[in-house]
Amino acid sequence: MKVPDTNQNVDVLVIFGITGDLAHKMTIPALYRLEQSGYLHCPVVGVALEPWSRDRLVGEFKASLGNDGQSVDQDVLESLASKVSYVHGDFSDADTYLRLKDLISKYKNPLYYLEIPPPLFARVIQELSSVGLASKGKFLIEKPFGTDLGSAKALNGTLHEIITEEQILRIDHFLGKEPVLDISYLRFANEIIEPLLSREHVDSIQVTMAEDFGVEDRGSFYDKVGAVRDVVQNHLLQVLCLMTMEIPIAGNYGAIWDKKTDILKAVTPMDPKTTIFGQYEGYLDVPGVAPLSKTETYVATQVYIENWRWHGVPVFIRTGKALSVRSTELRVVFKRAPHLHYVSDLGGLPPNEMILRIDPDPSLRLQLASKGAVGTRGRSVSLDLPFEEELGKLPLPYERLIHNALIGDYSLFIREDSVEESWRIVQSLLDPDKSIIGYKKGSFGPSDANALCKGHLGWQRPWL
Ligand code: BG6
Repeated sequence: MKVPDTNQNVDVLVIFGITGDLAHKMTIPALYRLEQSGYLHCPVVGVALEPWSRDRLVGEFKASLGNDGQSVDQDVLESLASKVSYVHGDFSDADTYLRLKDLISKYKNPLYYLEIPPPLFARVIQELSSVGLASKGKFLIEKPFGTDLGSAKALNGTLHEIITEEQILRIDHFLGKEPVLDISYLRFANEIIEPLLSREHVDSIQVTMAEDFGVEDRGSFYDKVGAVRDVVQNHLLQVLCLMTMEIPIAGNYGAIWDKKTDILKAVTPMDPKTTIFGQYEGYLDVPGVAPLSKTETYVATQVYIENWRWHGVPVFIRTGKALSVRSTELRVVFKRAPHLHYVSDLGGLPPNEMILRIDPDPSLRLQLASKGAVGTRGRSVSLDLPFEEELGKLPLPYERLIHNALIGDYSLFIREDSVEESWRIVQSLLDPDKSIIGYKKGSFGPSDANALCKGHLGWQRPWL
């Protein structure tokens, strides 16, 4: 990770919702890792409703660690705990913000991290503004940012009445994943890859995010959301952006954001006629799910990118819960080489593919054809690069994102126009009355999704 730039360093990190589930699972382990690497230079102030003492909060920090099987270094934990303080109070009570002000008014460059339900974003920022704390800070905001195009625009409008766009850092944790970050490097640092990524050579692109677990204890959240809002509008479109955008004209974050918005603007709207929605059997029994819910736990769809580079190349996107495997991958399927005299016998080999596995075990695979040992028949061979083996232990996504926000590197956050373009792309899939096909847990989703790829290489089982 980057070495901190002390000129831009945040001098206090304020986390709204520090007692919540996201903090427990992601933020606290990320803070611990930042402390361990010597990157956490500022105090951390938690704000939440629970009437906890500071010691109780520190106890919660301990409980959040070690769940990944890694041992917890007590010295690191103590040094992290020494930076933590806690303000408890209702987010709609002005007194909460006055007490926070007593604690942090001396700092010049606060970072406010809003890990709270989206309906509270504007309220919290407004209250911070009322006590004079908003204008000098940056705001890290968790997804979901809006629930459709209209609400995303309205939320942007409301926030812009209080703070500027430059103060808002919208989080998508996929953008902190190492293999996702690696997409730009693989493309723009490799002359043998980038020139091949266009309609001249690419037949189609497959984006798969398969999860082998269901909605579990998140029924009441998920049932209002569904797969399109939960992961397609954000994670999967962001990954697609990185794989298909043009090279930014400069290394600064504004230049990167411009190219991401450009590519999203070229993506055709998803169409219910070329979309399959599925729901796993048993979903309706999940606590918090409505009895006749039509929320999709699976979706497969397709888009085109209407620009010079990608015209005519379909992008197939699918995701589902309770499937047979857990795997997130981007698969670029190349056109077939012509079968001429010298290599006439390709023996029905699959086309070349470049597969970037994001989860689990981030890795890259190039699928090639070579001559078999006997005769002239070909065989399919693969060149594999497991990132962790090559690059060592990788930072956690939240560790990287919080670190970047702390040092003033905003390239991994999402600008207003990208969010709105993503909602435009998925908007027509948000109809609550869509038809849903049931599928068995542990299957690969509704088989009707296979027809989407007609004329191209069918859906491939994820590379495991
Ligand atoms: C979250 C979704 O944003 O991403 C979850 O709300 C999903 O439903 C999760 O399971 C996947 O993220 P990861 O990093 O665990 O693959």
